Amino acid sequence: MIHFGAKIERNDPCWCGSGKKYKKCHMAFDEKIQGFRLKGHITPDRSIIKTPEQIQGIRESAKINMACLDAVAAVIRAGMSTEEIDRIVYETTVSMNGIPAPLNYEGFPKSVCTSINEEVCHGIPDEKHILRDGDIINVDCSTIYKGFFSDSSRMFMIGDVSEEKRKLVEVTKECMQIGIDNVIPWTFLGDMGSKVHQHALDNGYSVVREIGGHGCGLEFHEDPFVSYVSKPGEEMLMVPGMVFTIEPMVNMGTDEIYQDRDNGWTIYTADGKPSAQWETQVLVTETGHEVLCW
Ligand code: MF3
Ligand code: CO
Repeated sequence: MIHFGAKIERNDPCWCGSGKKYKKCHMAFDEKIQGFRLKGHITPDRSIIKTPEQIQGIRESAKINMACLDAVAAVIRAGMSTEEIDRIVYETTVSMNGIPAPLNYEGFPKSVCTSINEEVCHGIPDEKHILRDGDIINVDCSTIYKGFFSDSSRMFMIGDVSEEKRKLVEVTKECMQIGIDNVIPWTFLGDMGSKVHQHALDNGYSVVREIGGHGCGLEFHEDPFVSYVSKPGEEMLMVPGMVFTIEPMVNMGTDEIYQDRDNGWTIYTADGKPSAQWETQVLVTETGHEVLCW
């Protein structure tokens, strides 16, 4: 939480590091946030408001992340193993002087997550996992560059995909876009999340509750947790300078999921029906948003 009681005087240098006086810089911004907080809303801590320099660092990191997904997009096909996707991501990242954020993250053994069909997320690349005609796959990339984190994922349809699965992939992309369109400063994450949820429901799908988006930039996972089953007027206030991911996981059937007991990572749908996910990383701006990574 922001400690507005902390003594920062009008003529002191602003906490954001701009060098300007507080009263000419973030004072009105802080007062506006405090107004929401006093009404009982969840408001962001200063620590998750990015400076222009930090935003530039995240943009540089995102260039690598997007290059990885572009490189995968260029070659992904039936017959390829997910291990091969991992190699492409690793090599693209290190060739651009980045570090794959998933590698060794809490013991994750690979550089990227590859989640096929009923795998919801956190699939582990493996030479035994061969892409087959009709599969849908999420490739989720995250990069560290000069200490800045980027995170995005895309779906790929392998060969001849059923109409049912194609629609799931397309509607999930629409859900992500609705999320992006509703990143509006001085509104709530719940305003955005509820619209994402509604679009999935309107198409007969469900949205995973336990896993969602997250602040991202100076750390891999920062506050806030971003739900896509949230309610209007609830969750954290969005303010300019916040950076987080929009990454709804949309299931064709039940929203229930379970975790792989053997590898401790991969999440599956409980009913074995397919799941899709797209992820972008967005910045809240004064007037709306900027997509930093997709
Ligand atoms: N990229 C995932 C996300 O969107 C995180 C994966 S953690 C990993 O949050 F260790 F599985 F890579
Ligand atoms: Co993410």
